[in-house]
Amino acid sequence: MHVITPTSILRHWTTDDAASLAKHADNPGVAAMMRDAFPSPYSLEDAQRFIRMATGPTPNLFLAIEVNGEAVGGIGIHPLDDVKHRCAEIGYWLSESFWRKGIMTDAVLSVVPVAFKRYNIVRLQAGIFSNNPASMRVLEKCGFIREAVHRNAITKNGTLLDEVMYVHFG
Ligand SMILES: CC(C)(COP(=O)(O)OP(=O)(O)OC[C@H]1O[C@@H](n2cnc3c(N)ncnc32)[C@H](O)[C@@H]1OP(=O)(O)O)[C@@H](O)C(=O)NCCC(=O)NCCS
Repeated sequence: MHVITPTSILRHWTTDDAASLAKHADNPGVAAMMRDAFPSPYSLEDAQRFIRMATGPTPNLFLAIEVNGEAVGGIGIHPLDDVKHRCAEIGYWLSESFWRKGIMTDAVLSVVPVAFKRYNIVRLQAGIFSNNPASMRVLEKCGFIREAVHRNAITKNGTLLDEVMYVHFG
């Protein structure tokens, strides 16, 4: 897959991305907004492990966000299962050096139709930590609706937070 947005290229990860992934993902300010599966510090071995997983058999879609020929972030779709098999989650992160240039807004805008086309879903959701207004703003700019606040749903780095649920219905 190769999606050209106004500010980046979204494409599959390759083993050659490991060094740039480790460089850009190794940031506690990024990790603080992500689930604990996103390591901090983020080593080269973590990057290699992620790329093996993202390029192996998986129901998920994992795309690198490439700017100036370098993978500087990631965006992914995770389909849910069982009675939630018509729902999926979207997740993303971007290297801090590239924040506030509209890159993630462009990426999310491009990936939403891909998600609805690839999976038989009626709902695409994202649970945002309540201390992450930038991510909420991205989703609002991309047509997501602020649906609910799940109070005390998140404990991140020892801090209790609400989770703000955003949803897109396609
Ligand atoms: C959230 C994140 C993906 C945003 O990426 P980005 O490319 O900088 O986003 P964009 O430039 O497309 O848009 C950011 C919007 O948030 C706004 N914003 C940025 N920081 C903000 C803040 N502290 N408070 C309110 N709005 C903020 C920007 O002004 C912009 O809105 P605007 O276009 O109306 O001015 C990036 O900051 C990031 O990777 N953060 C760490 C990881 C993360 O949060 N991942 C998402 C987990 S749910």
